[in-house]
Amino acid sequence: MEIIIQPTAARATCVAARLLAGLIRKKPSAVLGMATGSTPLALYRELVALKLNWRKVRTFNLDEYVGTSPEHPQSYHHFMWENLFGQVNIDKQNVRIPDGLAKDIPKFCASYEKQIRAAGGIDLQVLGIGTDGHIGFNEPTSSLASRTRIKTLTPQTRKDNARFFGSEAEVPHHCITMGIGTILDARHCVLLAFGRNKARAIAEAVEGPITSMNPASALQFHPKTTVFLDEAAAAELRLKDYYRWVYDNKPDWQKI
Ligand code: F6R
Repeated sequence: MEIIIQPTAARATCVAARLLAGLIRKKPSAVLGMATGSTPLALYRELVALKLNWRKVRTFNLDEYVGTSPEHPQSYHHFMWENLFGQVNIDKQNVRIPDGLAKDIPKFCASYEKQIRAAGGIDLQVLGIGTDGHIGFNEPTSSLASRTRIKTLTPQTRKDNARFFGSEAEVPHHCITMGIGTILDARHCVLLAFGRNKARAIAEAVEGPITSMNPASALQFHPKTTVFLDEAAAAELRLKDYYRWVYDNKPDWQKI
C-alpha cells in the first residue's frame, strides 16, 4: 500500500484528482469504479473543473440503497448525476449503478459482476471508508472473497448516514454492494479518508491484521492500493513519518 499524507483534505484531494485525470488522459476508455458519500465530493468537483473528456469513460458504482429509486434525492444514482456525471460529457450508456429497485436482487448482482467482466474489469476503483472499516457497504465480518450482493447496514452505518436523510429512521436497512472480492479485482484501488473520525479505521486497515472485522484491511492483499489521507485521518498510524519520507523521496518517474 502507498500511503500519501497531506496537510489537508483539499491538498490530498488535489493529488488524487491528478491521479485520476492522468488515467483518463492516458486511457480515454478507462473503466472507473466510483464511490459516493461525503469523502469523494471534492474529488468530483476537481475532476469537473479539469474539463476532461469523459465521452468514452465507463463507470461502475460501488453500491446503492435497496428500495431507493434513481430519483430519490438520497439515492446514489441521484448523487452521481448531481455531483459528477451531470457535469461532464459522459455517455449515459457507459454508466452503471446498482439498481436499488431490482426485483430479483441475486440475478441483478450476478449480471452486475458479468458487466464488470465484460468491460474488461475496473482500471481504478475510488473508495471511501466507514468508521467501522467498511468499503463499499461491506460491513465488518463480510467475506473477504465476497462478490456483488445484498447487505444489511449496521446500526453504526445507519447512524453515520442519517446526516444525509431527514432522520436515522429514514436510512434504508439494505443495500446492494460490490463485494470485497469484486473490489480487489480492480487494477488500482484508491482509498480516500479525511477527518479524525476515520483515524482508527485507517490505522487498523493499514497497519492492523487482515481481518473481516475491518473490511478495508483486505486491501493489504491488493498489489496496487493508494491511500490518500489528511493529517487527522493519519493520526493513529504508527509509521506515518516513514510514509511521508517515502512520498517525499519518490523517484521522479513514480511521482503523481
Ligand atoms: C459509498 C461507500 C461507502 C462510503 C463510506 C464513507 O459509495 O462505498 O463505503 O465511502 O461510508 O462515507 P463518507 O465519505 O460519507 O464518510
